[in-house]
Amino acid sequence: MTTLSLTINGRKHGPMDVRDDLSMNDLLREMLGMTGTKFGCGAAQCLSCAIIVDEPDGSSYTSPTCIAPAVNFDGKSIRTVESHARDGQLSALQQAFIDHFAFQCGYCTSGFLNEGQVLLERLARTPVAREALEQTIADALDGHLCRCTGYIKYHEAVRDVILADSSRYLVATK
Ligand code: FES
Ligand code: FES
Repeated sequence: MTTLSLTINGRKHGPMDVRDDLSMNDLLREMLGMTGTKFGCGAAQCLSCAIIVDEPDGSSYTSPTCIAPAVNFDGKSIRTVESHARDGQLSALQQAFIDHFAFQCGYCTSGFLNEGQVLLERLARTPVAREALEQTIADALDGHLCRCTGYIKYHEAVRDVILADSSRYLVATK
């Protein structure tokens, strides 16, 4: 057993005793009831289980949870798909996913949402040129598998959010 404390969606959890082999996915879903994080392949191949990890320097990245031990996240600050809506209002990304009918079964959606959010935050820190945007989005979403093949719609939804606030996410053109 290991004693674990972490911050999830801005709220502190722990200290709590967890088995050393407990996966982060089981911690979230089974112990904390946060079922928005999915379990797909269970082999770090599809990223449907991806969450956001926040670094102290303000950067963020996604991490699979299916084969990651929960103890790896001790002391970390993470966000799950439950973090996106605020005060009952969907985030711009969530709304764009709906507007584009980006998902069907929705199994991969929380992973795509978290990855899209990390991309938005990265672009807000380091904007890219408009010409580089399509490849930037493709690179960011690469690795997320959608068994319902919603790839283009996810891509379009992320692009819409970026273009709707282009002064924030794109390098200004003269
Ligand atoms: S369920 Fe974790 S990568 Fe597929
Ligand atoms: S919407 Fe079904 S797996 Fe992506």
